[in-house]
Amino acid sequence: MKDTQAVNIPELSGNLDRALLEDAIRQFGTPLYVYDLERIAEKFNQLKQAFGGRKTLICYALKANSNLSVIKKLASLESGADCVSLGEIKRAIMVGIPKYKIIYSGVGKQDFEIKEALSLGILFINVESKEEMLRVEACAKELGIPARISVRVNPDIDPQTHPYISTGLKENKFGVGIEEAKGMYLYAHNAEFLEPIGIHFHIGSQLTKLKPIAESTQKIAKLTHSLIALKMDIKFFDIGGGIGITYSDENTINPYDYAQAILEELRGLDITIICEPGRFIVGNSGVFLTKVLYQKENQGKNFVVVDGAMNDLIRPSLYEAYHQIVALKNPNTESASIQADVVGPICESGDYLGKNIVLPVLESGDILAVLSAGAYGFSMASNYNTRPRCAEVAISSGEIKLVRKRESFEDLIALEKDYL
Ligand code: LLP
Repeated sequence: MKDTQAVNIPELSGNLDRALLEDAIRQFGTPLYVYDLERIAEKFNQLKQAFGGRKTLICYALKANSNLSVIKKLASLESGADCVSLGEIKRAIMVGIPKYKIIYSGVGKQDFEIKEALSLGILFINVESKEEMLRVEACAKELGIPARISVRVNPDIDPQTHPYISTGLKENKFGVGIEEAKGMYLYAHNAEFLEPIGIHFHIGSQLTKLKPIAESTQKIAKLTHSLIALKMDIKFFDIGGGIGITYSDENTINPYDYAQAILEELRGLDITIICEPGRFIVGNSGVFLTKVLYQKENQGKNFVVVDGAMNDLIRPSLYEAYHQIVALKNPNTESASIQADVVGPICESGDYLGKNIVLPVLESGDILAVLSAGAYGFSMASNYNTRPRCAEVAISSGEIKLVRKRESFEDLIALEKDYL
């Protein structure tokens, strides 16, 4: 009889049961990303409902996971899109996200990108500096299309997260200070080709505390009141993304409390709230599956060598991020027998998926599931060591579908055909 025991911690990995995962591996091999589309919808709806009847637009941050099937699912739920490149904008349009629900952020937009965004008629461009705003103005003038903009304000608040993913402090490269923002709004208000319709901040990612978000909202709401008093028509209040998820035992932000805290600070403002969640929607809706190749002991230290590596999932190497790892054949750690580093085949000491992971007795060919891998997993994957990027699979209504093929060697060299 088939054993359909669910992976021990479904909360961290979508409700993906073991039989389905094994089936996916039989069909598509490893390493492999598997996403639960129903879990993605559930998380999206949870956030949407948290804001109740308030005018809200959820613009999913594509950078977390831009697989077309994932974003098509979100498009069907009426999500907007927070994009940071023309590529992401094109992906969003491809799956049917209306242009008037697409926003374009990022610190270094170039003229050709700005012009294309203007020609496409997206909702607005988030500008991150005075210099960038002037470029947007020049591009808009050249095209004869007024540019709807929002200024990214840096509230200088400590988000209390990993320094690499903290963005709302004055030492970070993002946005402008409150006084500078005010000056930019005054300039834009009087400029023929600029239409300041939004205000934006994003203080960091994997936030587990509400207070820094509430404090930032309060600061930016105050600025918004003063802009409205100057007769500016600010229609959108963009609170960025950043809601954290549970990777191990973190207590994170409840979407209802999140919405309440923001609504509280926005009392008296008739404005549409935009939020840009990425990780919250997809993080715990995906797993990364990898096969055990060898086990080795090096002078008392255990290693499990697997076929997945830092090029597939770079978060542990890059941020020392923790992802729970379980053996698919026996996800309960009670029968644990070894403690080992789970490492990949790449030629770097930093190539690991987990350190000191407690695992049952393993054999070559066993599968390990790296949980909470739906966000910033495949989207940050690379071809380092000329490793083809792995396949992606989506599960919906119990059906397994390949949503991105495994790359081949030919794919990797396709753009180098004319080598010397
Ligand atoms: N909006 C803006 C302007 C952002 O910069 C980001 C993320 C988001 C929204 C979405 O944030 P989320 O809701 O996913 O936290 N690679 C890192 C995370 C980098 C986040 C960059 N910005 C990681 O793997 O933890």
